[in-house]
Amino acid sequence: MDKPGEKIIPLSSLTQGRVLDTLQRPIHDLRISVMDRCNFRCPYCMPRETFHESYRFLKSSERLDFDELLRLARVFVRAGVKKIRITGGEPLLRPNLADFIGDLNSISGIEDIALTTNGVLLAKYASELKAAGLNRITVSLDTLDPEVFAKMSGGFAGVPEVLDGIEHARRAGLAPIKVNTVVQRGVNEHTVMDLLAHFRGTGVIVRFIEYMDVGTRNHWNPALVMPSRELAARIHARWPIEPAGRNYTGEVAERHVYSDGAGEVGFISSVSQPFCGDCSRARISSDGSLYTCLFATQGTDLRGPLRAGATDDELYELIRGVWTGRRDRYSELRASMRGAADLHKVEMNYIGG
Ligand SMILES: C[S@@+](CC[C@H](N)C(=O)[O-])C[C@H]1O[C@@H](n2cnc3c(N)ncnc32)[C@H](O)[C@@H]1O
Ligand code: SF4
Repeated sequence: MDKPGEKIIPLSSLTQGRVLDTLQRPIHDLRISVMDRCNFRCPYCMPRETFHESYRFLKSSERLDFDELLRLARVFVRAGVKKIRITGGEPLLRPNLADFIGDLNSISGIEDIALTTNGVLLAKYASELKAAGLNRITVSLDTLDPEVFAKMSGGFAGVPEVLDGIEHARRAGLAPIKVNTVVQRGVNEHTVMDLLAHFRGTGVIVRFIEYMDVGTRNHWNPALVMPSRELAARIHARWPIEPAGRNYTGEVAERHVYSDGAGEVGFISSVSQPFCGDCSRARISSDGSLYTCLFATQGTDLRGPLRAGATDDELYELIRGVWTGRRDRYSELRASMRGAADLHKVEMNYIGG
C-alpha cells in the first residue's frame, strides 16, 4: 500500500538476490491487461476511426483465461513481483473479475492489488472488488466539462457515471482513490482547475498524465503535450503546492501537496521527465505476451508455452531470461528514436497504462 512519508528504499536493498535487468532494475510490479475491449473510445488511446464496429478484437479463447493468469502471477512472484495492477482496455468488462482478484489475493507474496478503470462500471462492482481483496483503485477522468468529456472519451457515458463510480469506490473503502487525468494542450487544459477544485480536500488524489505516444494509432502530436512543469506552475499560482517525497522506489508520479493541507496532486511526466531509470514494471497483454516497456515494439509469447504444457520452472526461466536481457528505456530515448520505433509499438488497449 502507498504510505505517505514512507522512506525511499535504496536500490541495492531492493535488488539483493533479485532477478535484475541489464540496467540493474528488479522486477517488482506486474500489470495485467485482462481485456482488450473498451466501452470508451478516447482518441489518445483507441480512436474511433480505427477501433470501429468491425474492428477485430480478440476472441475470448485468444485472451488468457484466469487460471492461466493465476499460474503466471505465481511464477512472476517467484521472480520478485509484489504488486499487481489490473488494467485493459476496460478491465471491468471482463466477466467475474472480482473472483480473479480474490484468487490473486490468496497468492502468498502479493502485497498489493490495484485496478485502473474508466469508472463507468464501478458503481456496480466497487463493493465486490473490495470484498475480493482489491487494495487500491485508479479512475481515469480527464475533465468535468460534459462537452470536453464527450470529446476525450469518444462520446460514451458521461461525467455523472464516473463520479458515481468514484463515490461507490469511496463508500466501499477503496481509499485513497486516485484519478488519472490526461492533459492535452488546447483540449482540456482549461478545465484542470475545475477538476482540482472538485477533488481538493476530499482525499481523492488527482494525477496529471502527459499525453504519450503509445501505440501507433493515436496520431500523437507533441504540440498537444502539456508539460507537467507548466501545469504545476499554473496550479501553484492558484493553490500553492510543494513537492512531497516519493512513497516508494519506482513510483511513477511525482507527488506534490497543497500548502494549505487540502491534499495531494501528482504528475506523471513520461514525456518531459522520463523515469525509465527505476522502472520495475512488467506487463502481460490481453493475448498473453510479456512486455517490458509500455512503448515496446515486441513482446514475448507466454500463451503458446502455457498452452503447450510448459512447466512452472520453464515459464520461470522464460520470464527470467526476458527480464535479465531487458535494456529498454524508450522514454529516455524518445527524441532520438522517433520515426523508427513509431511503426510497431504495441497498442495501449492490449497492454494497459
Ligand atoms: C489504457 S487505460 C486502461 C484502463 C481504463 N480503461 C482506464 O481508462 O482507466 C489506462 C490509463 O492509460 C491512460 N492513457 C491511455 N492512452 C494514453 C496516452 N496516449 N497518453 C497518456 N495516457 C494514456 C488512460 O488515461 C488511463 O488512465
Ligand atoms: S484510456 Fe481507458 S477508457 Fe480510454 S479508450 Fe483507452 S482503455 Fe478505454
